Amino acid sequence: MNGISVLKTANQVGKLVFKWRKAGMRIGFVPTMGALHKGHISLVSLALEKADRVIVSIFVNPSQFGPGEDLESYPRTFNEDLMKLEEAGAHCVFFPSVKEIYPDGFSTSVHISGLTETLCGKYRPEHFNGVATVCAVLFGIVRPDIAVFGEKDAQQLAVIKRMVKDLNLGVDILGGDIFREPDGLAMSSRNSYLNSEERKQAAVIFKGLSKASELVSKGERNTERICSAVRKIINYKAPLAEIQYLEVVDLCTMEALDELTTPGLLAIAVYFTHTRLIDNVILNP
Ligand code: PAF
Repeated sequence: MNGISVLKTANQVGKLVFKWRKAGMRIGFVPTMGALHKGHISLVSLALEKADRVIVSIFVNPSQFGPGEDLESYPRTFNEDLMKLEEAGAHCVFFPSVKEIYPDGFSTSVHISGLTETLCGKYRPEHFNGVATVCAVLFGIVRPDIAVFGEKDAQQLAVIKRMVKDLNLGVDILGGDIFREPDGLAMSSRNSYLNSEERKQAAVIFKGLSKASELVSKGERNTERICSAVRKIINYKAPLAEIQYLEVVDLCTMEALDELTTPGLLAIAVYFTHTRLIDNVILNP
């Protein structure tokens, strides 16, 4: 254990980072909403490979939740998270209050057009504004050299890359691999909402994605046929699953692709009762 420090204010983080930077260190950053699982820890490990000091933020960001979504019930497990981060070797946890991030008078919203309008953006219209805004604030506080985001949230990763490029924020954005349970379900803090039957059926999402990869490796390029094969497996094997969207899109623009002439992202959102899960796979023709 390295004696991880927990800081609650932007000012404290600024001072610590200033000291590290003066010593010539590279700063890595992993923004999270807590309820950490192995997927998050793998992002911390990646940041530790690429930077000398790693800060992890734990902040359940109200502005990325829509009305009726799970802001209040989102799992908050700070003590366990801290133990996991200390064991992983992170150097600092930034654990701000809502007022610290959004002080009185806060009036800015970052909107990235185009790629926020498809997939999740279609169903969660304010979500990516909230994500981009909080990440811009966090980047301003931490001023990292690199920041790591999970590839499970592929659209979020594309949005953050676009924002950093457009605003010249000077942060190198890295994607970390999707971490899966032994039966293939992508790790997510929201998996804890599933009851045992839903949890069992949720593994079918990965079976559907694997079928898509298999079809592409056999030469299928038509995205409608690929999606309909995936839909069939999920509907048949997971009767509790309600697919919200299932689409193949361009990796950068998130626009729908009819034919796979370049690599595409097959992205899916599925409801199990009130629990919304997302997953994806890159299809390489
Ligand atoms: O992926 C998440 O956990 C959140 O969207 C993020 C990037 C921490 C912003 O609140």
